[in-house]
Amino acid sequence: MNIPEFQQYKNSGKKLTVVTAYDALFTQIVEQAGLEVILVGDSLGMVVQGHANTLSVTMDDMLYHTRLVARTARQALVIGDMPFMSYQVSVEEGIRHAGQFLQAGAAAVKIEGGRSVVDRVEAMTRFGIPVMGHVGMTPQSVNQFGGYKVKGKMPEEAQSLVEDVKALEQAGVFAVVLECIPALLAKQVTDLLTVPTIGIGAGPHCDGQVLVLYDLLGLYDDFVPKFVKPYGHLKADALQALQRYREEVERGKFPTDHESYH
Ligand code: KIV
Repeated sequence: MNIPEFQQYKNSGKKLTVVTAYDALFTQIVEQAGLEVILVGDSLGMVVQGHANTLSVTMDDMLYHTRLVARTARQALVIGDMPFMSYQVSVEEGIRHAGQFLQAGAAAVKIEGGRSVVDRVEAMTRFGIPVMGHVGMTPQSVNQFGGYKVKGKMPEEAQSLVEDVKALEQAGVFAVVLECIPALLAKQVTDLLTVPTIGIGAGPHCDGQVLVLYDLLGLYDDFVPKFVKPYGHLKADALQALQRYREEVERGKFPTDHESYH
């Protein structure tokens, strides 16, 4: 999928399904399942690296995982998530780092923030780098928010979010992620914008949805937010497989003749 095709989904009323991936194997599985948009999310800080939040993830980490995904993806639109402090310091640093994502094989980047990042969005898009916005509960600001909380419940906060997305669209984003906001606010924003909205914890009215792959597969259970629906139970399956393997090795039941060379 490319950026104009992404926009076509909204124009034709077809929902977009986005998922994160961080490596070659899962990229292959995601594509075999027919999903067409992959976000190499900085959520890898938690689900791959074991950190409590996304703040420790570096450009090197993100470029490494973006290469693994982009090298494997055949059809999917690969979006690289710009990590904390890779675009906040200056417009120049933001453009340089965004360019590195495209050189690593991503077709677009995602950055968090509203009016505070419009100069970054304008500069990146001016130089041919497609940008996805991300507002609401933006995880890189978790310390300022005092935890992972629903945003936009209060009228002033909702109004501020509306101003943010209008400014982002004006600046040239090709889509906006709405994270953890009330469903009705997400509907208002989705109706207002011409670019697609992609929700995570933002209800059913968005133009598409995104989930962290390990959450939807039931692999990661350190912290399961209300908006996550586990479509699989891979952690339970993995535990069972490993326990059976150990049991069979201990009892001398594995390997059998079948798994041995003669
Ligand atoms: O890092 C990430 O995976 C994300 C999405 C869940 C939106 O930002």
